Amino acid sequence: MELEIQLSSEENKKQRPKDEELVFGKFFTDHMFLMEFKDEKWGVPRIIPYQPFQMDPACCVFHYGQEIFEGMKAYRHPDNSIHLFRPFENAKRFNLSAERMSMAQINKDLFVKAIIELIRVDNLWVPSAPGTTLYIRPTMIASEVFLGVHPSLEYYFYVILSPVGPYFKGGFRPIKACIENELIRTAPGGTGEAKAGGNYAASLFAMNNAMNKDCSQVIWLDAIEKRYIEEATAMNIMFVINNEIFTPVADGTILKGITRKSVLELARVLGYKTNEVQIDVNDLVNHIEQGSCTEAFFVGTAAIITPIGSISYQEKEYTINDFQVGKITQRFYDELTGIQFGKIHDRFNWMVKII
Ligand code: PLP
Ligand code: COI
Repeated sequence: MELEIQLSSEENKKQRPKDEELVFGKFFTDHMFLMEFKDEKWGVPRIIPYQPFQMDPACCVFHYGQEIFEGMKAYRHPDNSIHLFRPFENAKRFNLSAERMSMAQINKDLFVKAIIELIRVDNLWVPSAPGTTLYIRPTMIASEVFLGVHPSLEYYFYVILSPVGPYFKGGFRPIKACIENELIRTAPGGTGEAKAGGNYAASLFAMNNAMNKDCSQVIWLDAIEKRYIEEATAMNIMFVINNEIFTPVADGTILKGITRKSVLELARVLGYKTNEVQIDVNDLVNHIEQGSCTEAFFVGTAAIITPIGSISYQEKEYTINDFQVGKITQRFYDELTGIQFGKIHDRFNWMVKII
């Protein structure tokens, strides 16, 4: 289906922030993508000026939280070309999230095409300073006006773009994380594997407690035994133990991160043994205390690779690698961002050129 494009008038265009002013998720570009699902089919795909929605207060999304989203980035390369990172992986995951939340499916080619065309329109917004990117937020919300609890019969699928700097203030440097041992994020059979807004809403209370203890992220444990490490609120987690890479197995309760998958692929090519297994929190703290866990880091689109300087568990803080960036963490960061920003050869064919 042809995309309709309605451009913003010159006088309605926004002032673009300078690259050095960029933080995460504060600025939005001049245009957005929008497509509406009604009468069992998607309507015309459209690029329109960025604008607020006028929605009925009875729309399902406001009451029962039927909402899913994705997080992706566009990268400017040294030759000024613009690239996406593994966008079909996001398209696939979006449909898995939609299925879990009883929402409409989207053609994967259209999902990627919508993003590519939107970025072409707003290409001047893709920043170029080191570490800056254009963050892409594809979203679907239930728009049927109805208060009965049932899967909505109508949806909006939209994409907005935000030029961003680092997710964590200070960029690539170790942060403190806290293991939550009372509250849970999700449970077996729940929605943990879907990228659904409700998972994030459920995380906020613990996030707030953690932030009050000077921690930047909560690390969640499994819901049944409160014993196995799962992931953080907005990223997956990896550990270097005896020079091997360990990450919690993704078997339904955690988000199957595309960065996680990519770092595992990268690690294998670089000659590291990778282990996707259950990680017992007691074993982990023993490994840290005995010095066999030498590095820990978060992985995710927004977080890229974020070193973990210390982990607090049951009122005790365990420092990792003297709160310094580890060698392996640094290597993965350099390799991954090197590919994403076109500084090193993309041996995996991950990048998709837009312009
Ligand atoms: N886990 C959660 C809960 C997330 O929100 C994210 C971010 O998208 C990730 C993991 C990492 O996933 P990805 O690498 O696909 O961005
Ligand atoms: C991402 O990394 O894209 C995420 O979705 C994390 C986010 C909730 C900020």
